Amino acid sequence: MKRILVTGATGFIGSHTLVELIDRGYSVIGIDNLANSSLDVLNRIKDITGIRPEFREGDIRDKEFLNHIFQMFEVDSVIHFAGYKAVDESVREPMLYYSNNLIATQLLLEAMQKNGIKKLIFSSSCTVYGDSKYVPITEESETCPVNPYGRTKYYIENMLRDLSCSDSHWKILNLRYFNPVGAHPTGLIGEDPLGIPNNLFPFLTQTAIGKRDAMLVFGSDYDTPDGTCIRDYIHVVDLAKGHLAALEALDNIQGINFINLGTGNGSSVLEIVNTFKKVNDVEFIVEMAPRRKGDAAKVWADTTKAKKVLKWKSELTLEDMLRDAWNWQQKNPNGYI
Ligand SMILES: NC(=O)c1ccc[n+]([C@@H]2O[C@H](COP(=O)([O-])OP(=O)(O)OC[C@H]3O[C@@H](n4cnc5c(N)ncnc54)[C@H](O)[C@@H]3O)[C@@H](O)[C@H]2O)c1
Repeated sequence: MKRILVTGATGFIGSHTLVELIDRGYSVIGIDNLANSSLDVLNRIKDITGIRPEFREGDIRDKEFLNHIFQMFEVDSVIHFAGYKAVDESVREPMLYYSNNLIATQLLLEAMQKNGIKKLIFSSSCTVYGDSKYVPITEESETCPVNPYGRTKYYIENMLRDLSCSDSHWKILNLRYFNPVGAHPTGLIGEDPLGIPNNLFPFLTQTAIGKRDAMLVFGSDYDTPDGTCIRDYIHVVDLAKGHLAALEALDNIQGINFINLGTGNGSSVLEIVNTFKKVNDVEFIVEMAPRRKGDAAKVWADTTKAKKVLKWKSELTLEDMLRDAWNWQQKNPNGYI
């Protein structure tokens, strides 16, 4: 069976993808520098799949480490998750993001090229579209990111495009995720953000469990039916399965393909909060707060291309996302320890 190298393997999306890969019989090698994850993830993956994944701790900016990995393991394709992802941090510390996202990816690509590995699945983001004027967003919509994090993804996408133009052996699936949420239904792996969460779901579950005094809704005067922002939330298990579909499609594609991974449906912040309370039978205080800078009003994906090229579509519902997120939070009130 083909060996798949997964960077950022112990992170939120990486860990769920490892579970799906192992369950499908793939042989994997995970790498991570543990900047935003825990080694305990590997034990949890073993509890779910019965197999402890092959893993090496290291940084993808370390050329020697990468070459060593490529020499030790016969890698067929790379799924590249490693990177930083907090928009507000990227505004405060842009150089950190250019180094760990853009430069790190360049170093990974060079190591892949040197070792003759030219099949890649890359974690991009809907942030490359910026404040899109039209919904649903298709892959042809204008890309105009509005913060340093989004710009690192945008520059990486262009680097990948140039690379694939320079050498027709490259096969690249550039996946633009919408909003991955939820957790594995076992409650053994999930999202474990450091500090005050920036994203809606961890904020919601931490408020529900009593770690935060109130659920803050940023902005209630947007041009949407209830005034709060609309996003396309996708269950992380569906997203992980999207990577299996991408691996299966990779051999048959030419050059680089850009593909949205979302559900194609938008939900407002208030809809999420109210459905969370109902599905999980919990109560907490909800407070309206001023808008955050840079939040677009409406963002959801057109998923036609994913269905066509990957033969994949999301299956889990909003209720599944909210139930699984709460199950994870309750079973792991302090995340991984
Ligand atoms: N979660 C989201 O909302 C979202 C949305 C769109 C795109 N993405 C992208 O998907 C990818 C995975 O996101 P995630 O939510 O799993 O994030 P995460 O922080 O949970 O996982 C990323 C992992 O990469 C590791 N890492 C970071 N820098 C590294 C380096 N230099 N070398 C080795 N390991 C390194 C971290 O320790 C972490 O385990 C990221 O590239 C992110 O930008 C995420």
